[in-house]
Amino acid sequence: MEGKSCLNSLAVKTAYVLPPDTNQHGTLFGGILMAYIDDIAGISAQRHARNPVVTASTDSVDFLYPVKEGDSICVESFVTWTHQTSMEVFVKAVTEDLSTGERKVCTTAFLTFVAVDKNGRPIPVPPVYPETEEEMILHEGAKQRAERRRERRKESKELAKNFGTSYPWG
Ligand SMILES: CC(C)(COP(=O)(O)OP(=O)(O)OC[C@H]1O[C@@H](n2cnc3c(N)ncnc32)[C@H](O)[C@@H]1OP(=O)(O)O)[C@@H](O)C(=O)NCCC(=O)NCCS
Repeated sequence: MEGKSCLNSLAVKTAYVLPPDTNQHGTLFGGILMAYIDDIAGISAQRHARNPVVTASTDSVDFLYPVKEGDSICVESFVTWTHQTSMEVFVKAVTEDLSTGERKVCTTAFLTFVAVDKNGRPIPVPPVYPETEEEMILHEGAKQRAERRRERRKESKELAKNFGTSYPWG
């Protein structure tokens, strides 16, 4: 399959931070930002694969700064690396004080998506190639992150075996 650039899968979403998406501290709910992240990363993955995709995993999501009511938030994502059927997507969120123009990178995250056929079975994705310095840094580190994910997946599967599926009420 022919390779595609990281830029090809770039997706950007900008929104006001306003109620009802803010909490009692006057800042954005973490869950809202997580939904933005999953949503935009899925768009990047599907743009790259041009096939349906599912979220296979999300690495840690670090909320570095609170996102204040009245500010804007800009969430950006693109595919950084692919293997056979999986794609790593990097997401960066920047908050902006619209009065002063001050901007901060408030969150970064890595997600893995898998392209699937109509039966939900994994199917191959095209390779991706980086062009900018930021894309190259992300692309180079991806193999190591994928290895850590493979280990974590094994651990999660082992951990899950310790727990049943029944509840005290039935
Ligand atoms: C993701 C899914 C399609 C993988 O299917 P599978 O039968 O387990 O397939 P495999 O083990 O062959 O894995 C396929 C690819 O997914 C990757 N993968 C699977 N689980 C992963 C995880 N937790 N983290 C990162 N990558 C993962 C594998 O590394 C492999 O990548 P590669 O083909 O590029 O080498 C399947 O587990 C699934 O449908 N999960 C639920 C997805 C979902 O519903 N998401 C929404 C969340 S509610």
